[in-house]
Amino acid sequence: MTHQSRYTGLLDRYRDRLPLSDDTRLISLGEGATPLIRLHNLPKVLGRSVDIYVKFEGLNPTGSFKDRGMTMAVTKAVEEGSKAIICASTGNTSAAAAAYAARAGITAFVIIPDGKIAMGKLAQAMMYGATILQIRGNFDDGMRLVKEVAEEAPVTIVNSVNPYRLQGQKTAAFEIVEELGRAPDYHCLPVGNAGNITAHWIGYCEFSAVSGEQVTESCAYCNGKCPFAGGGSGGNRPKMVGYQATGSAPFMRGEMVDDPDTVATAIRIGHPQSWDRAWKVMDESGGWFAEVSDAEILAAQRMLTQHEGIFCEPASAASLAGLINDLKAGKIQDGSSIALTLTGNGLKAPDTAISQCTGDMPGVDKATMVTIDADLDSVRNAILGFMG
Ligand code: F0G
Repeated sequence: MTHQSRYTGLLDRYRDRLPLSDDTRLISLGEGATPLIRLHNLPKVLGRSVDIYVKFEGLNPTGSFKDRGMTMAVTKAVEEGSKAIICASTGNTSAAAAAYAARAGITAFVIIPDGKIAMGKLAQAMMYGATILQIRGNFDDGMRLVKEVAEEAPVTIVNSVNPYRLQGQKTAAFEIVEELGRAPDYHCLPVGNAGNITAHWIGYCEFSAVSGEQVTESCAYCNGKCPFAGGGSGGNRPKMVGYQATGSAPFMRGEMVDDPDTVATAIRIGHPQSWDRAWKVMDESGGWFAEVSDAEILAAQRMLTQHEGIFCEPASAASLAGLINDLKAGKIQDGSSIALTLTGNGLKAPDTAISQCTGDMPGVDKATMVTIDADLDSVRNAILGFMG
């Protein structure tokens, strides 16, 4: 019997396109290589002939796209001799930081907004053994504190202001181009700090660039002379489209938002860390930002589960909610290919999922559930009743 070589994570897979040397010790949990799933039913439901592919990043080891950046950032932190990492987080970054710190045998400090993080993410940070600092404040307060404390304590910041994070995250775009044989026409993502949309753009630019000169001005890693590009395909690049929740939409307001709010707590961010870079992404790609309401986000999350069997978390569904609006408005033409990043797993936020299946939410169906006695008659009658 022949053995396929074992997949050992994206750092190993894309070693020559990342800031790694041959003897770097890789801190990996086998992240990356997530499925790119073509939607079969939703285009019909929406009555449009478009190709929609979802990159299900919720299938990474800690259930979100953060693992791509965290394997890179923690690998470099350890290489540079760091014994502790720190991040502010709406939940997913803290879960990933905690897991990769555990794997590396170093300490993780995570600052999270008290009461505003999904249950699954809190459970992860606790189980992986992070030291959790819950603040009476929001993500933006936490981010400010992380930057301040890193000046005074020997801790490495692993938020996306750490340029290694975006280096790891850019690999999602590599995987998409490799699978489709070209870049999609549009790539839609939910936007909080705007690190991920920037990272995807960097990935598309590097992969298509023929030389390393001025690959994209949105990348903070080098000064206009990219060491990882060159000899690329010269192929197309997508228009990047970023969706924000209405209550947390600084890119739509054109300024920072001081009291952000949304049911999609992962993107409850008013002061995005990659503000200038994300505007560059829009300039260079010809894309746009748009906003979606909480009701649209939850309805899109439910549509994806019920029509395609894919369960993502609310923030991730913002990309589908926005795409639906842009298809309706005719901003995206028939015949287009579209990639959506589903950033996190639906199991991260079971509380939100269950509470939206009670029938109280406009536009979202009640879950079908009855409580019956534990006997054959009751089960048979229930089944026949539902089928009849
Ligand atoms: N989707 C999910 C599920 C997220 O967790 C985040 C960010 C985003 C989208 C937005 O990505 O910030 O790069 O624009 N979560 C961060 C965290 C803030 O702390 O977990 P972005």
